[in-house]
Amino acid sequence: MCGIVGYLGKNEKKEILLDGLQELEYRGYDSAGIAIIEDKKLKNFKAVGRLQNLREKTKDYLSNGFGVSIGHTRWATHGKPTELNAHPHMGAYSFVVHNGIIENYQALKEELQEDGVQFLSQTDTETIVHLFEKNYNSNSNAWQSFQETIAKLEGAYATLLITEADEESIYFAKNGSPMLIGFNGDDIYFASSDTPIIGKATEVYYLEDGEFGFAKNGKVTLFDSNGEKSFSTQALATNKAMAQKDGFRFFMEKEIYEQSQVMNDTMMGRLLEDRVDFEELDEKLFENIDNIKICACGTSYHSALTGSYLLERVAKIPCQVEIASEFRYKKPLLNERTLFITISQSGETADTLEALKMAKRAGLKSLSICNVDNSSIVRESNGAILTRAGIEKGVASTKAFATQTMVLWMLTLYVAQIKKTISQEQLNAELEAMRHTPKALLVTDKLHSKMTRLSKRYLHGHGFFFIGRDLFFPLALEGALKLKEISYLHAEGYPAGEMKHGPIALADSELFTIALMPKTLHYDKIKSNVEELCARDATVLAISPEPFELADDFVQTIYYTHPMLEFFEMMVITQLLALEISVRLGNDVDMPKNLAKSVTVE
Ligand code: AGP
Repeated sequence: MCGIVGYLGKNEKKEILLDGLQELEYRGYDSAGIAIIEDKKLKNFKAVGRLQNLREKTKDYLSNGFGVSIGHTRWATHGKPTELNAHPHMGAYSFVVHNGIIENYQALKEELQEDGVQFLSQTDTETIVHLFEKNYNSNSNAWQSFQETIAKLEGAYATLLITEADEESIYFAKNGSPMLIGFNGDDIYFASSDTPIIGKATEVYYLEDGEFGFAKNGKVTLFDSNGEKSFSTQALATNKAMAQKDGFRFFMEKEIYEQSQVMNDTMMGRLLEDRVDFEELDEKLFENIDNIKICACGTSYHSALTGSYLLERVAKIPCQVEIASEFRYKKPLLNERTLFITISQSGETADTLEALKMAKRAGLKSLSICNVDNSSIVRESNGAILTRAGIEKGVASTKAFATQTMVLWMLTLYVAQIKKTISQEQLNAELEAMRHTPKALLVTDKLHSKMTRLSKRYLHGHGFFFIGRDLFFPLALEGALKLKEISYLHAEGYPAGEMKHGPIALADSELFTIALMPKTLHYDKIKSNVEELCARDATVLAISPEPFELADDFVQTIYYTHPMLEFFEMMVITQLLALEISVRLGNDVDMPKNLAKSVTVE
């Protein structure tokens, strides 16, 4: 997720901006920049990589006197991490920073290019500043031009704009991405979250979606679709560590709650009215391809397994999944009609990267599904689809897994469209289910408090089985890994139909079974598997839309119109279970022992 800061006032601006961006580093970024207007002089600096590079570039610059200023840390979604793509983006006499995704930017860009506008970057953001200047060049009214610009944007944005056309104002607008305004006397601050302004501002106003306005002469004038509106500020938090977690106890907890929102970003611009589109892919990648091999590790392997069920069932293309550390040494038989897909949150996992290099040496075309642009795996692949989950701080992966799975679901439809293995009617049904995913991912207070209460019963025992069938087998594997990783209790995921081939010998009241019992896929089969366990006195936590009397504990789900909606809702439940058990055991949820966020060694 990108980070935004802004400042209007008489204090030195460069340090305020850089310190503010430093506080946003935890959101992850790959480039950064600042822009300042004071006594009619426009200054801007950009740098790729760490913020230190930007500090280096600006070390001989200091601003003084009244001015307006904006800064940005960029997490690439459209366009590679380069200086040209770094914000602030400049027009002829204005600068803009933006967090979010402008869904209709292509159409706006084409319109502007037809008017002769030259674009420097590949980003969606640059359309904002050129649109503003096109409006200003015709009406010479900066505020009206800004309003007309915002009215044309579709999608998610938190944006700040400064311009020589009105060098005493900062224009702002918020819709779908976070932004707040800080106050301290005549000093006015803008930021994506609290931490950049803690210790600077004393009062804060959290902008709502659809609000916009301008800051001028130490005052903020606020509007929404009904016109100008009054607003009241509140005292600003003082604890930076808590603020980075937005008030959650752990980054992992925050990231479980973020899944609903980031899923909108993952789908944005890709989930269209009647089809799926990946503007970053060339359909030629799929020419002469008659099967797919997906290679990954850990949680990414689980999303790969999930994707394999979807690709075979819906896109009708054979799909094999490999654990990268196994694949590397098994002397695999490879042929050029196989598309080699790697999945990696970090894009730096050594085993996955080496497996990818093996496939490339064998002449296979490659596609990566990754959360970090310009990472080693992305750079090594012929094509890449970014999951847009934003930085994932918790070592135990949650939103990265959810967005990987969504990308694989969208890729399934994309391949089915190319290979014409799906009717428009079936495609529409899939797209409709997809649109409900953010709802299925919502964490309600009722659900979270239920999982907190339940967790007290699962703190001992001689182990856990997570069981499921079909798509819910990889989810069972993932639920078991989540629990193992952060509670240090032994758990394994198992195909439900396999329990009778050995593991059921373990069944007794101290064997905890988490049973994933979806209504839309083989319910009767999974039900009888769970009944076999109950008959042998295993302790069962059933997760299902259908009440299951034999369960010792039961969590009722509500989204059961499509297997993938059941999948995502049950995924959240297993994540919360692992979190709350780990909390009760007093573990470090975000930094579990022996684990690293990115395994760059064999
Ligand atoms: C998942 O919770 C773990 N942190 C781990 O299994 C991880 O998924 C695995 O190391 C792969 O990492 P990657 O997605 O960055 O390649």
